[in-house]
Amino acid sequence: MPWRAPVDENAVQAARTAVAHLKPAVVVTGGSRGIGLALAKRFIETGHTTVIVARNSLSLTEAVADLKAATGVEPLSILCDVTEPNAADVISSALADANLYLDVLVNNAAMGLAGPFLEQTPQEISRLVALNVESVTRLTRAALPDMIARRQGGVLNVASVGAYVPGPNQAAYYASKAYVLSLTEAIASEVAGHGVRVSALAPGPVETGFHHDMGAENSLYRMIVPSMTADRVAQSAYRGFMFGQRVIAPGVSNLAFVVALKVLPHIVTVPIMRMLLKRDFFQR
Ligand SMILES: NC(=O)c1ccc[n+]([C@@H]2O[C@H](COP(=O)([O-])OP(=O)(O)OC[C@H]3O[C@@H](n4cnc5c(N)ncnc54)[C@H](OP(=O)(O)O)[C@@H]3O)[C@@H](O)[C@H]2O)c1
Repeated sequence: MPWRAPVDENAVQAARTAVAHLKPAVVVTGGSRGIGLALAKRFIETGHTTVIVARNSLSLTEAVADLKAATGVEPLSILCDVTEPNAADVISSALADANLYLDVLVNNAAMGLAGPFLEQTPQEISRLVALNVESVTRLTRAALPDMIARRQGGVLNVASVGAYVPGPNQAAYYASKAYVLSLTEAIASEVAGHGVRVSALAPGPVETGFHHDMGAENSLYRMIVPSMTADRVAQSAYRGFMFGQRVIAPGVSNLAFVVALKVLPHIVTVPIMRMLLKRDFFQR
């Protein structure tokens, strides 16, 4: 058992009192569609004041209307590009304006890039790293100190089953998810016993526009690997997060993939991934 400093109950009480006039909020980045929208719906359905963040105001407005129609509750939305260096401040001041504070952060927004690494432009790769790696790191670093001071809340970072294996033909994306998983598990270990939850979600393919948007719709994995719905992923993610699971791999077949990827050597799995991820598999 690692030694832990005794909890200073007065400091915890002071940190809680500082936000006692505000309501705790769950903030979901990329909450305007796909898995983020489903996660926002799940948090609202389970009684959490939920806030969605994205860049496109029209999609945000539509998502707010969809969530209201589905749950009867109209969530707050924040127009924010999370790759901006001041994103954490933008989010916390929008929350404060609505009498809310950040209790649970869901780092869900990400982008993919399909195709050989050398066919992707340096700018595209930098955008991916800025969103999938830097923004997750920055928002997590900004959020945790207050959560730990209050001994409440937590961070759910959306990784992928792809975090367990290099992904030729989606190299930067797979590497970014390996980073998210590693960072999250390491932080979860560091903050264990501090009263906060830190979890990584590792879904397999999910039916969202993500694959189409990165140009991977004709890859072999889209044809042969079963996909889950975003709602099922969100249910599993919510349950796992509430149970304090450090890594949540939704779905039985996805769990089997995780186990196989952990057991099999890269010399076996990487060529398979290369085939599965090849864009336009049936074209020479
Ligand atoms: N779909 C899958 O099969 C799958 C599998 C495993 C893991 N994942 C992971 O699950 C997460 C969600 O995936 P998804 O399929 O739901 O994606 P998606 O449908 O493409 O949705 C992405 C969301 O992120 C927002 N977003 C993108 N860039 C942003 C930025 N710079 N700042 C703020 N918001 C931004 C988008 O809204 P705007 O464009 O309006 O900003 C949108 O709401 C990602 O982390 C992804 O890596 C997905």
